Amino acid sequence: GKGNFRHFMEKELHEHPVVIGDVLHRMLEAETPRLPALPFDLAGIQRITMSACGSAFYAGLTAKFWLENLARVPVEADVASEFRYRAPPLDAGGLGLLVSQSGETADTLAALRYMKAEGQKILSVLNVPESTMARESHAILETIAGPEIGVASTKAFTAQLTVLAVFALALAQAKGQQSPAEISRLAASLLEVPARAAEILGNDAPIRRLAERIAEARDVLYLGRGGCFPIAMEGALKLKEISYIHAEGYAAGEMKHGPIALIDKSVPVIAICPSGPLFEKTASNLQEAAARGGQIVVFSDEEGASKLAPIAAETILLPSIDPFAAPILLAIPVQMLAYHVAVLKGTDVDQPRNLAKSVTVE
Ligand code: M6R
Repeated sequence: GKGNFRHFMEKELHEHPVVIGDVLHRMLEAETPRLPALPFDLAGIQRITMSACGSAFYAGLTAKFWLENLARVPVEADVASEFRYRAPPLDAGGLGLLVSQSGETADTLAALRYMKAEGQKILSVLNVPESTMARESHAILETIAGPEIGVASTKAFTAQLTVLAVFALALAQAKGQQSPAEISRLAASLLEVPARAAEILGNDAPIRRLAERIAEARDVLYLGRGGCFPIAMEGALKLKEISYIHAEGYAAGEMKHGPIALIDKSVPVIAICPSGPLFEKTASNLQEAAARGGQIVVFSDEEGASKLAPIAAETILLPSIDPFAAPILLAIPVQMLAYHVAVLKGTDVDQPRNLAKSVTVE
């Protein structure tokens, strides 16, 4: 049941700290990645092809950023419905990486089968270990998020991110791309996520206040860079699916190539911009949006928020964390915002119109 929560989604949002903590407990040992035995050699992986749908695809896109940055392995990423029909040639011996909560999504399963036929080793990140995709994979990494009832993915998404973050560390280590000290420093930043996530969940008043403003909007733009670009897209997807407000997630640097034309004082521009190497770049894109009257909403830590204070209409102040772990942490307030907007709008949060939890037909 939902216990004391109004919706399954609210209950599942509150499970983030425990779920992320469980994944880390299972996959890290003294700040070192510990994967289950895999039927292929990690060090031999030269190329990864990732495919998934919806939120699972965004988790995979953040992983692309980690895998390329830390393990220096090129990752091709495409949504499964495009990938399967594009049918790209794949060099035998590559790794096919699929991400799915249900393990039953028709397009993702078809992408898996295509990759397998092209001689890829198949590794799937799944929440349901008895699923069709689990049976057809060479290996799986379980997200152990428990059943997710709300149609809008919450804890399964952060569990996917966490599993993929540890996988990226394991691959970086196997390939000798990061020193043991750097691996443990990055692992330690992941270990901070559960407590920081609990802080965010325990302080939802600012997010509820922001929800009142967003509930009035007709269009919302979410911007991010690097590992937080997929989080911007996740934010937009979540808002669309449960509040029915039109939203777009954009790479912050792409704004001036088109979407900036939409900006006026009625359009909230939500920036997912923790401090880190890409912060200043995003900040200058936000200056441009502010100059056109956009209502800038900043999701950042103290350092980032204070730099953007002069242009921010609203700020959601978040705990600071290493940029590596930031996408996992920032996914949480972004989902919380969509939830509170949907509650204000009075939509059917757990069962939004036209959507199914698991899309088993293409
Ligand atoms: O079960 P899967 O992870 O394969 O599902 C993929 C998408 O259908 C799913 O993430 C969908 O986008 C969610 N409703 C997002 O909240």
